[in-house]
Amino acid sequence: MKTQVAIIGAGPSGLLLSQRLHLAGIESIVLERHSREHVLGRIRAGVLEQGLADMLRQAGVGERMDAEGEIHEGVEIAFGDNRIRINFEQLVGKTVMVYGQTEVTHDLYDARDAMGGRIIHQAEDVALHGIDTDKPYVTFKKDGVEERIDCDFIAGCDGFHGPSRKAFPADKLTVFEKVYPFGWLGILSETPPVAEELIYSGHPRGFALCSLRSRVLSRYYVQVPSGEKVEDWSDDRFWEELKSRLPADVASTLVTGPSIEKSIAPLRSFVAEPLTHGRLFLVGDAGHIVPPTGAKGLNLAASDVFYLSSGLIDFYRAGDDSGLSGYSAKALRRIWLAERFSWWMTTLLHKFDEEAFDVRVKRAELDYLMSSETAQRALAENYVGLPYD
Ligand code: APR
Ligand code: PHB
Repeated sequence: MKTQVAIIGAGPSGLLLSQRLHLAGIESIVLERHSREHVLGRIRAGVLEQGLADMLRQAGVGERMDAEGEIHEGVEIAFGDNRIRINFEQLVGKTVMVYGQTEVTHDLYDARDAMGGRIIHQAEDVALHGIDTDKPYVTFKKDGVEERIDCDFIAGCDGFHGPSRKAFPADKLTVFEKVYPFGWLGILSETPPVAEELIYSGHPRGFALCSLRSRVLSRYYVQVPSGEKVEDWSDDRFWEELKSRLPADVASTLVTGPSIEKSIAPLRSFVAEPLTHGRLFLVGDAGHIVPPTGAKGLNLAASDVFYLSSGLIDFYRAGDDSGLSGYSAKALRRIWLAERFSWWMTTLLHKFDEEAFDVRVKRAELDYLMSSETAQRALAENYVGLPYD
């Protein structure tokens, strides 16, 4: 097989990249290890910055998002019984779209199908070759048969555990990592959300988040120590713990019900530098991870796709390779700004095993946030998403 861009991974990064390239007349083939049902069964985040929402509209994938997603003009930050609403619209004149990543992926699949996009599922043993030559290729097995795709470029959109990052020579890659000693236990339940907007709650017992997918589908999380087992968390135990970490008036109106999904995700900050080696480009979770506290994972994948697709379009249209050679530096700048914000929000709102001094400093930081419009504006500016350039 032959194509212009071989894309490894059919998560939001790979699918959005192939869709944008297709609309610019650039061919790609997407290789995915799992089945489509598996990809669509994953429950992930649900807050889209305007930059991503606009990109989906431009790519012809915004219709269902605009009909079913919710525009949120703010979020609430709570600490004990203190609460503050961060009014994005008023502070920075922007909003976010609440629409699940699962739905975004679904819409991207539909769009790729409608345009005859090639996505090969259950591709096994995907391996990258010749990335530092101008004739890279990818090999894989499909139904036991060895296959090969010759291409001009490879986009590694294969998430944190995929083969693309591992294909870099060890001395060409530096990683920066911080692993937090806790994870988020999350549940999805067919209950009305406790509030119109998201509530991020810092509490002496640990962090909690009230989020939602629709008016009849809620997503809630509580911070749990690393190593905690999901089997040890009955629904009742989860609801009790969540209630204990929310302001009393919120807890008293929480509607509980059976969970339809329950899982624990570890928290990590991770960046690989650079994102490019020869003809290989890392995109999304393959190159970086943020803890979910600032809702930046999917949005950073989107800005990577924006930069890389622009670079590829300039290359094929005008032979201009400046966007490709500048991809890593440009994407990393925005990635590090989002890493900073995600680390800050995680540190501010989670329970750590801290010295008394640090506990007091965090309390002061929350006091400052609750009392200073300038501090609130900084949160709002980052939460709705920094500009793409
Ligand atoms: N061969 C082919 N595909 C692979 C391989 C492999 N060896 N390894 C992983 N993949 C696929 C995964 O099965 C997955 O479908 O790559 C895809 C990567 O998708 P995501 O993990 O969703 O990563 P990305 O598309 O960059 O999206 C980033 O998703 O993980 C969240 O928090 C993250 O919201 C962010 C967004
Ligand atoms: C979610 O709805 O799953 C969600 C929302 C906001 C976050 C993280 C996760 O910061």
